[in-house]
Amino acid sequence: DSCRFKRHDLERSGSYPEVATPLEIGFVPTMGALHAGHLSLIQRARKENKIVVVSIFVNPLQFAPTEDFQRYPRTLKQDQTLCEQAHVDALFVPDAEELGLIKRMTNGEWRSRSVSEGVMANSELKTPNSKLKTQNSKLKTQNSKHSLRERYANKTQNSKLTQVLPPTSLTSELCGRSRPEHFQGVATIVTKLLNIVQPTRAYFGQKDAQQLAVIRQLVMDLNLPVEIVGCAIAREPSGLALSSRNQYLSGTEREQAAMIYRALQQASSAFQAGERLGSKLIGAVKAMLTTAPNLIPEYVELVHPMTMTPLTQIEDTGLLAVAARIGSTRLIDNVLLSDR
Ligand code: PAJ
Repeated sequence: DSCRFKRHDLERSGSYPEVATPLEIGFVPTMGALHAGHLSLIQRARKENKIVVVSIFVNPLQFAPTEDFQRYPRTLKQDQTLCEQAHVDALFVPDAEELGLIKRMTNGEWRSRSVSEGVMANSELKTPNSKLKTQNSKLKTQNSKHSLRERYANKTQNSKLTQVLPPTSLTSELCGRSRPEHFQGVATIVTKLLNIVQPTRAYFGQKDAQQLAVIRQLVMDLNLPVEIVGCAIAREPSGLALSSRNQYLSGTEREQAAMIYRALQQASSAFQAGERLGSKLIGAVKAMLTTAPNLIPEYVELVHPMTMTPLTQIEDTGLLAVAARIGSTRLIDNVLLSDR
């Protein structure tokens, strides 16, 4: 409303060109090792958009040096097949250099390789069922690619990179406590990906509820022209939330990991029976988690789902969230508790 010239006025006066209906692009950013959780996002994007773009990039900016960046599963060939089967139009697999995370010194200036035109070219994107192409040349050998160069990028050049800093109010609780720079890394890479792909809608899972809140806020604060769509958590029959990191679990660890959801469900039943006190709901989860001997809770917290502010009591809606370790694997899960 504060625009000096409103578009329809300009259109009426004939000074604004007629614009064809925009091509609707649905975008699903991922780090690969695709599973049914990712596929549920892709299916939703497929239903709601003419074109579906999936990206795969294991983002070094969101891993701390102590975390599993090196061993994060990389299954590009299989991911490509899954995307083909899901009728994805374009698979965008940039490397760190294309995203400007690694820069070369040329004539005294840092330069990054620009995103190659391949998959994002209109000729590819305009055809809804165009053959799936992998961005940026073939299936490079992922493991070697993601080792030295990205570690180098991380250590030496992060300070030379413009980054997006989400508000501390959103990142000081839950995963932000143990992963202080994680959401800055996520916000930076998601901004880059959104700017490159320029989608109409981007799809994120409720599984990473804090990430979703950070991204919703980011899009509002930076006026990014994209609709953020939050999608329900996909689970195994046991209730275990699907995650690329579930691959790290042994059989018994997997059984114990399912206790996280059972504990959340128990609290959810208590909520439905009228319990509103944070301490009681959190207590119910913690008590149940102790029955899985190998499960070490990192946090059990009740927060507001949008602002991530801790709640002592649920007025209207609350997010009950858990992070726990089993062996060296860190898992997260949550339930939304709402009267509506
Ligand atoms: P990744 O862990 O690969 O997840 C990609 C998307 O899939 C995220 O939006 C995540 O919330 C969603 N997702 C994962 N497991 C899910 C499940 N069980 N049910 C529903 N959705 C699920 O999240 C990331 O990658 C990265 O941080 C990224 C956003 C790509 C930025 O690097």
